[in-house]
Amino acid sequence: MAKYDFDSAVERRGTDCVKHDTLPQHFGCDGLVPLWVADMDFRVCPEIAEALSRRMGHPVYGYTAPPESYWQSILRWNRERHGLELDRSEIAFVPGVVRGIAYAVNFFTRPGDSIVIQPPVYHPFRIVPEGNGRKIIENPLIERSDDGGPFYRMDLEGLERIFATRSPRMMILCNPHNPCGIQWDAETLASVARLAARYGVIVISDEIHGDLMLGGKRHIPFLTVCPEAAETCITFGAPSKTFNIAGLESSWVAVRNPALREPFFRWLEVNEFSSPSFTSWIGAEAAYTHGAQWLDELTEYLQGNALAVKRFCEEHLPGIKAVMPDASFLVWLDCRGLGLSQSGLVDLFVRDAGLALNDGSMFGTGGEGFMRLNIGMPRAGLMKAMEQLRQALA
Ligand SMILES: Cc1ncc(COP(=O)(O)O)c(C=O)c1O
Repeated sequence: MAKYDFDSAVERRGTDCVKHDTLPQHFGCDGLVPLWVADMDFRVCPEIAEALSRRMGHPVYGYTAPPESYWQSILRWNRERHGLELDRSEIAFVPGVVRGIAYAVNFFTRPGDSIVIQPPVYHPFRIVPEGNGRKIIENPLIERSDDGGPFYRMDLEGLERIFATRSPRMMILCNPHNPCGIQWDAETLASVARLAARYGVIVISDEIHGDLMLGGKRHIPFLTVCPEAAETCITFGAPSKTFNIAGLESSWVAVRNPALREPFFRWLEVNEFSSPSFTSWIGAEAAYTHGAQWLDELTEYLQGNALAVKRFCEEHLPGIKAVMPDASFLVWLDCRGLGLSQSGLVDLFVRDAGLALNDGSMFGTGGEGFMRLNIGMPRAGLMKAMEQLRQALA
C-alpha cells in the first residue's frame, strides 16, 4: 500500500523557483509548462520537512557542526543501497555537485590543462572547465546501430587515443549519464578506470542520479568496479536529486586514494568549502535515514511516467522516440524523425505546444535533433503536456 502521494499538484510559482518562476527570462514568455530544470514538482518527503521544521522552531540559528550521525547516514545509505563501503575518512561535504566538480577542477588542474567529456552531456561539464581556462577534449558517445542495448555506448578506443596522444589531466564521467539516463555497465566502467590509471588521468564520477534507478535496475558506483577505479576516482553524490532537496545545497565527495584525497580534503577544509549549513546536514541526514520508502515509491512512479511518455510517443507522435532511462526523471526525446532544424524544433515545443523543455543542443555534440523532457511531476499534468505536443504536431 503506497504511503506517499505523487499525484497531487503543488503550486510552486511564487517561491522564486528557477523552473517555474524564471520562464520569461529563459524562454521569452510565461505560461509555458515547465519541463526543463532538473528538479521535481513533488512534495518533499514529509520526514525531511519535519526534521527541518523541528530545528527551525528553535530560536537561535548560530554556528553548528554536523554530528557523527550525519556522516554515518551517508555511509549507511551507500552501503545499503549500492553495496559501496566507504570509510568516514573518505568522505567530505560539498555544497553542490557542480561546485564540487569546480573545486576539483581548480585543485587538480591548471589553466591550459585538458579535460575529457563525453557529449551529449550535462552542460556544466563543459562550462566549468572552460570558464576556468581549461581546454575541453570531446570523446563523443556513439549511438547504437541496432535496436538492442543502451542508446549510447562509450567510444573506448577514442578515449584511449585521447589519453595516449593529448595527455589530459582529468575526465568527467556522468554515471548514470545525463541526458538519456544510461547506467554504464561494470565492464565499460572498468575499462575507463584501467585506461585512466595507465595514463595518469583523474576521473571525476558524477553519480548524482545514481539513487534514482528505475525498473529494478542497480546503480554501479565507479569506485567499486576494479582496484584501478579506486586509485583514480573522485566520486560526487548527493541527496539533492534523489529527494528533491536541491535548494538545501547538500552533497558529498568520496575519494579513496590518499594521494588524491588528503591534499584535496585539506584544501577544501582550509577554504571552508566543506562546512555545511545546518539545513544542509539536517535535510540530508533525515533523507538518508527516513527516506528509503519514499524513494522506492517515487522511482516506481517515475518508471510509470517514463513508460506512459514512451507509449504516447509510439501511439501519437510519429517522428519522436522517447529513450527509456535506466535512471532519473529526464527523458531524452529523439525528434530527428520530424525533419526539423534545431530552431524549428525549439519553436514547435515552445511556441506551438507551450512547453518549456531543454534544447538538446545545449548538451553539446550529438544533442541536435533532441529535446530533454523532465518527467518529475504528477502524471496527469505530464500527459496533458504530451497532448499539447500532439495537437501542435497535428
Ligand atoms: C549530472 C548532474 N550533475 C550535477 C547536477 C547539479 O547538481 P548540484 O545542484 O548539486 O550542483 C545535475 C543537475 O541536473 C546533474 O544532472
